[in-house]
Amino acid sequence: MRSAMHFTHLACTLCGQTHDATVPQNVSACCSKPLFANYDLAAAARTRTKESLRSRVKSLWRYREVLPVKNESDIVTLGEGWTPLLPAPRLGAKHGLTKLFIKDEAQNPTASFKARGMTTAVSMAKQFGLKKLAVPSAGNAAGALAAYAARAGMEAHIFMPRDTPRANIIECEQMGAHVTLINGLITDCGAEVAKRKTAEGWFDVSTLKEPDRAEGKKTLGYELAEQLNWTLPDVILYPTGGGTGLIGMWKAFDEMEKLGWIGSKRPRMFTVQASGCQPIVRAFEAGEKFAAEHLGATTRASGLRVPKAIGDFIMLDALRKSHGGAIAITDEEMIACTREVGAAEGVFPAPEGAACYAALKHLLAAKKITPDDTVVLFNTSTGLKYLECYGSS
Ligand SMILES: Cc1ncc(COP(=O)(O)O)c(C=O)c1O
Ligand SMILES: [Zn+2]
Repeated sequence: MRSAMHFTHLACTLCGQTHDATVPQNVSACCSKPLFANYDLAAAARTRTKESLRSRVKSLWRYREVLPVKNESDIVTLGEGWTPLLPAPRLGAKHGLTKLFIKDEAQNPTASFKARGMTTAVSMAKQFGLKKLAVPSAGNAAGALAAYAARAGMEAHIFMPRDTPRANIIECEQMGAHVTLINGLITDCGAEVAKRKTAEGWFDVSTLKEPDRAEGKKTLGYELAEQLNWTLPDVILYPTGGGTGLIGMWKAFDEMEKLGWIGSKRPRMFTVQASGCQPIVRAFEAGEKFAAEHLGATTRASGLRVPKAIGDFIMLDALRKSHGGAIAITDEEMIACTREVGAAEGVFPAPEGAACYAALKHLLAAKKITPDDTVVLFNTSTGLKYLECYGSS
């Protein structure tokens, strides 16, 4: 896995200004917005073709040329990514769909897609010689940071709402993280990290407040294209909190087009949120560029309990440019859909993943999705992490 690196610079996602990539960075100094990593894609295309990927490692590090880590020795890995894109014929047949797929992200280390972002963020922290990382989390990002920090011999300082699923709290503790439970939401946890990080010497790896988690997450887009033989689906349904995955995939599509790996066609991207916390749905419907905070946020799909997202404008732009949309699902419906997905396909989805299936039903009824579309649902974690949500019979 030796290859030339093509990472060139960091740029502000709002105004485009370039920022120093040789030091750890959080939000842009110009606009306090997310920074994006940029690559010399023309050079990458000369050294790496899509055909040559076939013999690569079966993890997200197969896309090494478009990831920011310079030295292989800094890569902190637990074998993340390259998860299966499972055909879902029985679930699809209920609705006349023949090309329905589930991207099963539960098969990642720590059983969620958050492993993708943390492998790159912690690897970059290693490259920069950082030792103490901090994160506010709805739960799964915390578990992933705890795992990758342990793997790298670093400290993880984790702030989660007190009512985060027990599985997330326990996994963090058992992987040696410093866990603080807060009476409040992820936004309150973020405020606590912001208040203490300078005095404590922590590097803040909050969602989209550093550039490297999105780089790991964007491999979702690379994998989809590779697994669909370098085509993209017609529709993507993505359970959205902070939005890193959606934003990352949208970035990946652009990169792959520049690499000459795909054409200009894009999937219609749909954000799926919870009725009790739907800031992006509201902003999408109101035609806003930025999303107002969703006050009094509540949902059992803890990953979707993100009342304010710093990457709101990037998400809203992608939803609109892709001719997709945004839809909210009640907790009752997503929990009911869990059993439907599980019984039909043998995948016990997280409530966030089940919400995507609920969204599919609504969008079919509204004719925003048609049975001949190729549709991908993202199951971002496993129901096993959310046992509190299910009664047994
Ligand atoms: C299971 C699950 N799904 C979806 C999300 C939302 O992810 P994103 O921040 O990429 O929008 C989260 C975030 O915590 C999560 O844990
Ligand atoms: Zn800027």
